[in-house]
This record gives sequence, C-alpha cells and structure tokens, in this order.
Amino acid sequence: MNSGTRLPVVVLISGSGSNLQALIDDAAAGAPYEIVGVISNKADAYGLTRAKQAGIPARVLDHRDFADRQSFDQALMQLIDTFDPGLVVLAGFMRILTPEFVRHYAGRLLNIHPSLLPRHQGLDTHRRAIEAGDREHGASVHFVTEELDGGPVIVQSRVAIADDDAPDSLAARVLETEHRLYPQAVRWFAEGRLRMEQDRVLLDGTPLQQPVELPLPADAQQPRLA
Ligand code: GAR
Repeated sequence: MNSGTRLPVVVLISGSGSNLQALIDDAAAGAPYEIVGVISNKADAYGLTRAKQAGIPARVLDHRDFADRQSFDQALMQLIDTFDPGLVVLAGFMRILTPEFVRHYAGRLLNIHPSLLPRHQGLDTHRRAIEAGDREHGASVHFVTEELDGGPVIVQSRVAIADDDAPDSLAARVLETEHRLYPQAVRWFAEGRLRMEQDRVLLDGTPLQQPVELPLPADAQQPRLA
C-alpha cells in the first residue's frame, strides 16, 4: 500500500461518475481515504472529467480493445495495481467481472447497486421495482464476491415509491441517497472498522445480521448492530 495515513482508493466507472464525485468531495472534506486513480472502460465517461478536475490520475481501458473478458480483466488488474490501492470501489462500473478479478481483490472490493439487495439484482432496477408494485426501493453497498450483485450487503438506503413515480424520477431520488451511502461505507473501511470474513460483513468486529440502514441515527458513528 502507498505510504501516508490515508487509505489509497481506486475508483472504477463507466459513466457520469456522480458517486465518484461524492467520494471526491468526502475525501476533500477530510475523510481518511484518498482517491489515487480513476479508471473507466469508456473514453467518454463524464466521471473522467470529474477526476481530472480534482487532480486525480484518470485512465481509460476500453474493453472493446480486448479479445475476451479474461484478457480485459487481466489488463485492468495490472492497471489498478500500478496505483497500489488498499480498496477498489466500483461506482457505476457496468462490467461483469471474472472470478479471477474478484478473487484478486477479495475483501477490498466494494460495489454500489441501485436496489434493496437481494431484490432486483442486475439491470433496470428502478423500472422493475415499479412494475413489481414495490412500495419502497433504494440502494445497497456490498462487498463483491463471485456471485453477481450477491456479495454481503453493508449498508442500504430506502426511498418510498410514489404512485406517480417513473423510473427516472425514482432513479434520481435513489441516486441522491447513494451519494451519502457510498462515502459512509468507504469511510468505515478506511477507518479499519469494516471487513469481510467468510462472506459475512463485520463492522467493529461484530457480524452484521442485516445491513445497516441510512439515514443513520444522530450518533452516526455507532450504527445499529443487530
Ligand atoms: C448508480 O446508480 C449505481 O448504483 C449504478 O449506476 C449508477 C452510476 O451513477 N450501478 C449499477 O447499476 C451497477 N450494477 P454514477 O455514474 O452517477 O455514479
């Protein structure tokens, strides 16, 4: 890991990077982590501009330049490891990862997913939540394991679904909560409070029986443990 007291973090993106921005802002506000590199598989991802504006090295690795998933993931691992990160954060990185990749970063790979996992794994979650008649929806931050969107969940945000919600309006409200959710999880990890052990989440050494919920109580440093 790099020298210094702040945890070096690499963020992977494919698009707008609004979650990346929330992490950049949180780090700038004194969080105990530093974003040392941003990598996108798409050259036109707006998140690359956000990284450059914050003075963070930004790289593009286009998956279309590789023959298959394995060779792309190998190159991605090599690129990530040039930054020597203590944590790799998937922030709207729209790629399925190989088991080799996931194993390489086991216990130090986080993802944010726009649903109340285990409900609505995969894509198009906002439309599916509405069509299923769900009364609430949200977002989850989880450790990544070999099961797609199936790793143990750390923290979740909930939003009510209104009768007149469309996928876009619902997505916007969920995204707003994501911007509080992800910095919280990354802070916990950087503070050494969060880890994965045998596919379970431990926070302050105690296994979570269920994900922590946002909004956090006033004493936010002491989340409710089941
Ligand atoms: C976020 O809503 C994130 O939860 C979702 O992509 C969006 C990225 O937005 N991720 C997934 O769907 C992963 N399966 P952003 O680029 O503005 O952070």
